[in-house]
Amino acid sequence: MDTSYETWWSEEDGGDLSMEKDHEYAWPATIDLLDPKDILGKKILDFGCNRGVLLRKLYDRYPYEKAVGVDLARQSIAAAKENSQDYPITFYIEDNIANLTETFHTAISTSVLYLIEDLNDHISKIHDLLLDGGVYYTSFTDQSKNPSLAYMKQEIDKYGAVKMQNHTLTQVVDCFLDHGFQVELIREHTGPHIDVSGYRRFHLSVDDYLQSMANSFMIKARKIK
Ligand SMILES: C[S@@+](CC[C@H](N)C(=O)[O-])C[C@H]1O[C@@H](n2cnc3c(N)ncnc32)[C@H](O)[C@@H]1O
Repeated sequence: MDTSYETWWSEEDGGDLSMEKDHEYAWPATIDLLDPKDILGKKILDFGCNRGVLLRKLYDRYPYEKAVGVDLARQSIAAAKENSQDYPITFYIEDNIANLTETFHTAISTSVLYLIEDLNDHISKIHDLLLDGGVYYTSFTDQSKNPSLAYMKQEIDKYGAVKMQNHTLTQVVDCFLDHGFQVELIREHTGPHIDVSGYRRFHLSVDDYLQSMANSFMIKARKIK
């Protein structure tokens, strides 16, 4: 079944390129959360890689052996290939990662888990793609108690090619535990400065925006069995 689409984000004045620019400031802080030992010289999977920026920035900081980027957005994967010719990265448009023939030391997904309807299926497939002792870093914000949830979901579902889900942090952690992972939470947005200029995009109040910041984690799940 082909579930691919042209671009992930379809807002008129900016598709996936605008998301790439919006996320640009965040990459150094995201990469700071990863243990270099999980990246240097390793085989890496970026699930939901969009235009491939993270994999390029990651290689520039911590050269890995090779990487695979997977996404469903055809134009974004085309841009990722075009922009990554000097990097040891292969990109695929793939709706079923069980079809990948490679295995990985480390898998990463940023801002993707909230779009995955069947967590059990996703985590089971990641488990099978990881080598023993391998790790999955996946960013996640529990929005289940955020008063802006309905507004946020309305905006994301309007422009995103995949609908927002509403998993709790406990559901996500339980799913990892049930699949034989050891789970650690790494806090995101820990600095003293918080730029709230864009809070209105997905939140009804600054308080709700701060709640999102406080509930944002990089989940580090290590395959132990
Ligand atoms: C919010 S964007 C995040 C993109 C990128 N990881 C980042 O942080 O900038 C979510 C991405 O996940 C991709 N995606 C969603 N569901 C997916 C799936 N089942 N398989 C592969 N990619 C998926 C979307 O196409 C989109 O590129």
